[in-house]
Amino acid sequence: MPDDYTPATIADVRRLRDTLDQQGKKLVFTNGCFDLLHAGHVRYLEQARALGDAMVVALNSDQSVRLLKGPERPLNPENDRAEVMSALRAVDAVVVFDDERATSLIEAIRPHVYAKGGDYTVESLNREERTALEAAGTQISILPLVPGRSTTRTINKMQSSESAPAGNGLLRLAVLGSGAGSNLRAIIAAIADKKLNAEIAIALTDQAESSFREIARAAGVPALFVDGGSNPRRLSDAAQKEIFEHLERARVDVVVLAGFMRILKEPVISAYAGRIVNVHPSLLPKFKGANAPQLAIDEGELETGCTVHLVTAEIDAGRILAQAKVRVNMGDTAESLHARIKVEEHKLLPQVLNEWRERGLPVRGAGAP
Ligand code: GRF
Repeated sequence: MPDDYTPATIADVRRLRDTLDQQGKKLVFTNGCFDLLHAGHVRYLEQARALGDAMVVALNSDQSVRLLKGPERPLNPENDRAEVMSALRAVDAVVVFDDERATSLIEAIRPHVYAKGGDYTVESLNREERTALEAAGTQISILPLVPGRSTTRTINKMQSSESAPAGNGLLRLAVLGSGAGSNLRAIIAAIADKKLNAEIAIALTDQAESSFREIARAAGVPALFVDGGSNPRRLSDAAQKEIFEHLERARVDVVVLAGFMRILKEPVISAYAGRIVNVHPSLLPKFKGANAPQLAIDEGELETGCTVHLVTAEIDAGRILAQAKVRVNMGDTAESLHARIKVEEHKLLPQVLNEWRERGLPVRGAGAP
């Protein structure tokens, strides 16, 4: 095996295209930097390859990656990137190109299918590239990005010594809430009292004017507002994306839902799977959803409590991390009971988070049934 891998030439790829063409088959073309391959790339490339019978990947040269991504990139030189890329099942040939755009390659290769990933639409493709594709009669396919996988995210993680939950650094939290913010206050207090070795990277709310936001501001925590849209229990797609971007920018380790009233979905749920916790005012699986203290009273329970659990796509159903019990007193109203449950929440939630930092993801906490 030769020491140095040599990428294909444009003439090689053009020959491949012509051979396929004669056989009534299709060549797929895609391009990008592919600096640090991750599962999102692999899935995207598999999908792209399935659009035809062979695929060529045009890799941006080191010089063009620097122009596109800045002087720190690429992490891996073009020949290494080409060699790794060519080893993938979906990839039949790799060419390296120097321009920021793939226009001249498209003109030279005239692929049957052009695949592009991500947030692009056919309309938002670069105009020159689009004109070249149209002139070559190439079919354009936009494929969805795999949520939560990105090279930038991996680089951020590696650069931040604080990002490893079980490491020596501080656990970086995002706390999301919609209302009173007493759990946020408890987390802030636990950090100040050194009972929780963490820092709140961001507090995020869907209520522009809320006690939650005031508490964050007063503690000097970045207090972000995201407009969730008209349905008070749901988040618009734009808001889901905005929240994801805030979390990514803040390089958050754990997302804490503390009275956040809207349902979090993709891309956050997948990207932060196993790292989103919620505090709920009942002993789950009993009394899911809203009004849990009232439901406990209505059911004549002698005991209820609170649960800290992982968040999954199913509401209040993720793995239970810790629970604390609270007695239901004669004459309790939903308010009086909820107030006593919150006292327990304020102890339990910081404890779970601290355990997370010390030992990684906690296994069922003390008091769990
Ligand atoms: C808490 O009782 C929590 O269990 C529920 O919402 C409430 C939030 O209270 N999910 P606060 O805003 O932290 O005071």
